[in-house]
Amino acid sequence: MVLDGRLCYGGDYNPEQWPAEVWEQDVELMRQARVTLVTVGVFAWSRLEPAPGRYTFDWLDRVLDLLHGGGIRVALATPTASPPPWFSLAHPDALPVTVDGVRLHHGSRDTYCAAAPAYRAAARRITGLLAERYADHPALALWHVHNEYGTTCHCHHAEAGFRRWLRDRYRDLDALNDAWTTSFWSQHHSDWAQVSTPRATQYLPNPSQVLDFRRYWSDELLAAYVEQRDLLRAATPAVPVTTNYVLGDWVPVDHGRWAAEVDLVAIDHYPSDAGPAAEEQIALAADLARGWARHGAHHHARAGDDDLPGARGSWLLMESAPNLIYTPGRMHTREPGRMARHSLAYVARGSRGAMFFQWRAPRGGAELFHSALVPHAGPDSRIFREAVELGGMLDRLAEVDAGAVEAPVAIAWDAASGWALQQRALPSDRIHHHTEVAVAHRTLRRAGYACDPVLPGDPLTGYALLVLPALYLAGDDTAAWVRDYVHGGGHVVVGYLSGVADEHARIRLGGYPGAYRDVLGVRVEEFHPLADGEEVPLTGGGTGRFWAETVRLAGAEPVDAYAAGVLAGQPAVTRHRYGDGVAWYVSTRPDEGTYQRLLDEAARVAGAPPTCPDAPPGVEAVRRRGPEASWLFLLNHTASAQRVPTAGVDLLTGAVVEDAVTLPAGGVAVVRERAGA
Ligand code: GAL
Repeated sequence: MVLDGRLCYGGDYNPEQWPAEVWEQDVELMRQARVTLVTVGVFAWSRLEPAPGRYTFDWLDRVLDLLHGGGIRVALATPTASPPPWFSLAHPDALPVTVDGVRLHHGSRDTYCAAAPAYRAAARRITGLLAERYADHPALALWHVHNEYGTTCHCHHAEAGFRRWLRDRYRDLDALNDAWTTSFWSQHHSDWAQVSTPRATQYLPNPSQVLDFRRYWSDELLAAYVEQRDLLRAATPAVPVTTNYVLGDWVPVDHGRWAAEVDLVAIDHYPSDAGPAAEEQIALAADLARGWARHGAHHHARAGDDDLPGARGSWLLMESAPNLIYTPGRMHTREPGRMARHSLAYVARGSRGAMFFQWRAPRGGAELFHSALVPHAGPDSRIFREAVELGGMLDRLAEVDAGAVEAPVAIAWDAASGWALQQRALPSDRIHHHTEVAVAHRTLRRAGYACDPVLPGDPLTGYALLVLPALYLAGDDTAAWVRDYVHGGGHVVVGYLSGVADEHARIRLGGYPGAYRDVLGVRVEEFHPLADGEEVPLTGGGTGRFWAETVRLAGAEPVDAYAAGVLAGQPAVTRHRYGDGVAWYVSTRPDEGTYQRLLDEAARVAGAPPTCPDAPPGVEAVRRRGPEASWLFLLNHTASAQRVPTAGVDLLTGAVVEDAVTLPAGGVAVVRERAGA
């Protein structure tokens, strides 16, 4: 537990932006809102070390004491995401270089190269000092390393690091040349000194080089994190250490692999949509976080470590926006009630609380209009009143932390497949691993099934169904992971562009999808990428979009077929018995209804139960189960009241639920279920 029995509630707190009188008001307001945890110091380096070697920790001492006096715990951050101006001036070689070779200047945040020795040394120094000074501070509950690792660099330090990483991975240059297929376009390297990071090039870059660079950079950033973590752990072995993940296709971090190195997976999440898609994005982000946390736990279990971080799949929402959400072109307000409903949606899916960026809205600086729990208007505001209400709700929900989310379906997620499918020379630039995962997840969610994202190789015991959405890369180990699962009785739904390439992004020959042909009982000869808006009718009545394929049966039976065009009469969806299991193949993106029926049927045949079969459309149901109780979260995302059959006690109201709960429009209930109900 991070907070001895309470859920985490609070956010980024930046006292360095305010005079000391405001700090006392802040603590008072935090108490009113029942805040339990605040993140302090994320970008405070220049206020902690205003000049090289001159430290001013006194204000932080006072802030921590004040918070402690108010009963508020602290996630103490290392400030390394924003080195002070003096650092950049003293170490110009530590400023980052873009893909075009442009060296960036100080003036924003995250302006450093994570591979630069001077940056790493300075980061260790300030971290070590914080660790030493605050190790015994009673407010300290969690270490928050850095902020949103994710920036890249192409300077000579990064290049040297990339070469070291490649030598470690491939040992000799022949192996590298082979993995990168450098015989294509005269890219053969005869000396390691010729190997560079994938900078801007004349035409298409080498996709295997680009992929390896992203893998390397994820490892480089992880090494930077681990250095800090180890210093913190040495000072305070009992205090968990984390870093907040930023999500997005551009992020060069393999969050699943990182999970083994953090004591608590933490994510920041800002939906890019203000409508119902926000709820879908929240569900996916929360499930991904849980999947990563569980992966960390599996990793530790394999390593024989008894202390299993993430064992219940618990994680923490470290940042979200109380109100204005940035969507391209303008910011959208979160309408009344949505902040609480969304926060509980994360908790339903395993978050140990709800944290926000940020506590108090700043009066200036780059993000001056970003929303905050205490807005520019001050505490006499709708947002602060909702913040107080949310604090009360979270207070009443503490017991759910003992529960693990029940999910009978697994969806494979793989950072490297995502990166590989970003290469420019694919048959269609419309197919992305993350999008395909999101579509499968959204469809399963609508059909009422809870799912856990898993990483290739994770244990699959307990999952009735595994879905592979455009899991493009498959080494032999991944191919065996799927084969063994199905052979042993598992059911799998494989989507197009899965298992097409090996771990180096080279095609697996002999017909697609090379890794899974035998399990699927099909052999794909040709791809038929579809134009934007183009639809292919299917004989089952639906349509396919984005993608189609020439699928030859090699043991599988057709389930649905293309009904027109060059593929007329040929299989579009197939099913194959393999060992004791069943393998479905889906060679196009079916329309929503068709895809939902298909996944519903696959789940039914596999024996995967929906969470709450009686929940009406628009009501999200998620169950967390602990050793002694289970809790059903019901989130009404519709604009009218909804009735859901269930029995127990609604923790939010304290009301006994005899046979059904009626949720007001936009309302939430968290029912501790009556045993046997
Ligand atoms: C996060 C970041 C915060 C703040 C926030 C604004 O990604 O960690 O510092 O910038 O976004 O949305």
